[in-house]
Amino acid sequence: MQAVQSPPKPEIQLSKVESSKRLAAYEAVDRHILPEHKIIGIGSGSTVPYVVERIIAQGEELNHDRVFLPTGFQSKELIVNGRLRLGDVDQYPNIDVTIDGADEVDHDLNCIKGGGACHLREKVLAEAAQTFIVVADYRKNSDVLGTTYKQGVPIEVAPFAYAKLLQNVHHLGSPTATLRMAKGAGTKAGPIVTDNGNFVIDAPFDEQTMKDPYSLLKKIKMLTGVVEVGLFCGMAQAAYFGNADGTVTIKW
Ligand code: 5RP
Repeated sequence: MQAVQSPPKPEIQLSKVESSKRLAAYEAVDRHILPEHKIIGIGSGSTVPYVVERIIAQGEELNHDRVFLPTGFQSKELIVNGRLRLGDVDQYPNIDVTIDGADEVDHDLNCIKGGGACHLREKVLAEAAQTFIVVADYRKNSDVLGTTYKQGVPIEVAPFAYAKLLQNVHHLGSPTATLRMAKGAGTKAGPIVTDNGNFVIDAPFDEQTMKDPYSLLKKIKMLTGVVEVGLFCGMAQAAYFGNADGTVTIKW
């Protein structure tokens, strides 16, 4: 892994965090979405709209024979509203580049993903891509996962299995793991349901455990009823972080 700083880019009126997201997204698109790339995976979250914005700015001539694959409802809307051609990974299982956000990225480019509960589809599109690139603002750049993203490791689970799985995740070393609930509707709100009809458990682990995310990933995946884990280990080729001072930090 190395890190470099690229020069500041011109700023318009966005908050520091928003402009950092945009900086990261623009830089990553400029470097990784090349004319020869025809099948492109689009991730989820609040940074990805800037990715799509920059791709659209590459022009109709480049985009008219490209296909864009979404990782969920939100990215599907971005693709359709941007008048880009929508495809699916079952039609196009070999992706040139996937660009996605992350909740946190460590010094080895391991990521926590799934803050938006899209990590199953995100992982499929990351794995299917020849190149997987992460874009984020400066708050997501850390040495050890769990330092800045405190909600825990997102675990997508089959609804039928969630109660037993919660116990098993507690025993695995996350006694505060909880089922993620829909926001804003008080105690009557039910669990959030993913685009795949599943539930999500958020499982915080201690720092020592998070220093070896690959080992944790394997343990969680062994639990019956787990559909996918929001730990992306050894998948990203590079991560772009927009900084508040207008620079971009690149880790690869
Ligand atoms: C959704 C994700 C997102 O990529 C992640 O939550 C980052 O989102 P944002 O760009 O809003 O910070 O993993 O499941």
